[in-house]
Amino acid sequence: MDRIKITGGERLTGTIPISGAKNAALPLMIASLLTSDRLTLKNVPNLADVNMLARILRNHGVDHSVDGKRADPNGYLGETFHFTARDIVDTTAPYEMVSRMRASFWVLGPLLARAHQARVSLPGGCAIGTRPVDLHLEGLRALGAEIDIDAGYVVAKAPGGLRGARVVFPKVSVGATHNVLMAATLARGETVIENAAREPEVADVAECLVKMGAKIEGIGTSTLRIQGRDRLEGATHTVLPDRIEAGTFAFAVAATGGDVLLEGARMALLETAFGVLRQTGAIVEETADGVRIKRNGNAIEPVRVETQPFPGFPTDLQAQLMALMTRANGTSVIRETIFENRFMHVQELARLGADIRLHGDSATVRGVGTLRGAPVMATDLRASVSLVIAGLMADGETMINRVYHLDRGFERLEEKLSRCGARIERLTAG
Ligand code: EPZ
Repeated sequence: MDRIKITGGERLTGTIPISGAKNAALPLMIASLLTSDRLTLKNVPNLADVNMLARILRNHGVDHSVDGKRADPNGYLGETFHFTARDIVDTTAPYEMVSRMRASFWVLGPLLARAHQARVSLPGGCAIGTRPVDLHLEGLRALGAEIDIDAGYVVAKAPGGLRGARVVFPKVSVGATHNVLMAATLARGETVIENAAREPEVADVAECLVKMGAKIEGIGTSTLRIQGRDRLEGATHTVLPDRIEAGTFAFAVAATGGDVLLEGARMALLETAFGVLRQTGAIVEETADGVRIKRNGNAIEPVRVETQPFPGFPTDLQAQLMALMTRANGTSVIRETIFENRFMHVQELARLGADIRLHGDSATVRGVGTLRGAPVMATDLRASVSLVIAGLMADGETMINRVYHLDRGFERLEEKLSRCGARIERLTAG
């Protein structure tokens, strides 16, 4: 199994190109199930999760191809994928696949909408929490789906097709919004989704659906109004830049000191997180090419932050913020309100010498003078990358095990960081 070795203490300077967003690319790929025409996606990041989802979709009858090689192998231009679901050949998403990748559960709505039936394995719990799917099921039931749970599978039918309805989510869910939104594009009549997730990735999917012929009002707001169509068409769409990748590198620069342009990053996608970064003492500037992050020798100031759905501070940056706060000049409090168990990085950060106490959903982080490198590992993507940030700050060598988590969500992480002066390398097993 690959490992990543980091020798800490280097400042980061230069340019880091930001890839297409994983959490937009995945539902956009799933949207290809809604049409028999070709859906072309540009700026798709080359990630393990993308490749796995392409395989899962193939099982349902989605052909996919990737345009030749990248124009410039070092250019991070993203890849162009073509997806065509001429016929849905299988409406079952088996346990072996859904259990490996939670987002694949989102095929449920599109399969029901297009094929009027679906059998999709329950995703089960995962490292960051129990993550139920009740909101997905209630939303689809409101659209007329008959849903049973049988032997670990969601068995859903919509004889005669789905019909529009009012869906009021009691809680904001990104995935349930994707599922119901995609399903509603092919339902009869009007669907109104209240308390929809406003995450930019949801808006990106909605914009692609509009290019495919869907009628959607309220994109980017918490009320989405969808007029169902008989069919959707093919389209070409460019995946928006990955705000979590941009935020991760921004926290890394604040942690090590330095001056880095995050090329292609958009300030508007991350206002709250960049605001927090400014409170810690970093300089954040929007430029014509992206967002520039600087921090000189000044101390890292502590902060009080709680995670919230967009436009609040994203849970997907909580671990990275915590890594930064381990070296703050005082005590920070970080509250996780989205997932009940997203603190796996705490124990591992402690291995480097961090002083973090957990009380329920809050972590109190007392800044320490130095971190010292150590062998670490983590059980989810964002926790793993927080250890990379801590390793870049630490004295000596940090060895990150279980690198496959990083490969699920960060494209060429070590290459992007080492070009800016980090001493980071991948040790390939075998
Ligand atoms: C998406 O997960 C993202 N995944 C997550 O990113 C992200 O952390 C999360 O949204 C929150 O922003 C992708 O986009 C692929 P939710 P999702 O449904 O949709 C509860 C990463 O690291 N809930 O918005 O699964 C749920 O338990 C990943 O890239 C229900 O109670 O998250 C949680 O507490 C990890 N019932 C809250 O809602 C439901 O039916 C928000 O979850 C659904 C969710």
